Amino acid sequence: MDEPTETPLIRAQGLTRRFDRDGDTLTVLDRVSLSVNTGDMLAVVGASGAGKSTLLHLLGTLDRPSDGKVFFGGQDLSELDDRELADFRNRHLGFVFQFHHLLPEFTAVENVLMPAWISGDRTRAATERAESLLEEMGLSARRAHRPGELSGGEQQRVALARALMMEPPLVLADEPTGNLDSASSALVHDLFFRIHETRGTTFLVVTHNPALAQQMTRVVTMQDGRVLDDGLALGGGTALGGGLALETGDLGPEMGDRA
Ligand SMILES: Nc1ncnc2c1ncn2[C@@H]1O[C@H](COP(=O)(O)OP(=O)(O)O)[C@@H](O)[C@H]1O
Ligand SMILES: [Mg+2]
Repeated sequence: MDEPTETPLIRAQGLTRRFDRDGDTLTVLDRVSLSVNTGDMLAVVGASGAGKSTLLHLLGTLDRPSDGKVFFGGQDLSELDDRELADFRNRHLGFVFQFHHLLPEFTAVENVLMPAWISGDRTRAATERAESLLEEMGLSARRAHRPGELSGGEQQRVALARALMMEPPLVLADEPTGNLDSASSALVHDLFFRIHETRGTTFLVVTHNPALAQQMTRVVTMQDGRVLDDGLALGGGTALGGGLALETGDLGPEMGDRA
């Protein structure tokens, strides 16, 4: 038998992102290669400005690389046009950002339903699914609330339910609990692990939260647009990986990463 060679769920190959600023070229992501396998729980850590969000946006096809490619299950995503990419994201990726990006004029259940509506699904089954996701997030009693009537933690749990609406194999989260108190953060983190356990969903989470990074199966440390270290969490990987994951600067709730 051949040795088992699993196709990574998502793979970055030499990903580079440059920005032109006042005639200067700023390289914010520098030839990053990374393979994420189905079932990975991967934390991306590193100081502010290291390129974490840029990497997440490129992996999520929200931005196009200056160089390099992203493959999803072996498919080269650079071959898709913008419309095809929007459809790809809708069906295969769930996103959770630091700020919930819920639509203020829609209720919680309508926000969760939005990805299904965008895909053309307005069935009763979709509504039932959205309601059951809210129940799973402990938010049944909030189904008819608008985002402005929810706490920060509740808003993020609605955003997580929305991310799961289309049953994506991969959830990309960018400092999802960066604005939450520790109790609300812990609730969201527990949901990540429960979802991973029940559905096998793969998670890639940019985080400053050492408690979360420590629980993940893998911690990728970024610095100056490059991957500095890629190892198993909890001392399972290199000493460098375990240590850096817990010591990386500006830990704790970070307000307004880009501000
Ligand atoms: N649109 C942009 N134009 C110019 N520079 C940018 C742009 N987006 C991000 N950067 C720069 O790229 C670097 C990495 O940013 P980012 O990926 O947001 O870092 P992180 O998420 O690790 O804090 C930063 O120095 C940031 O200022
Ligand atoms: Mg960021």
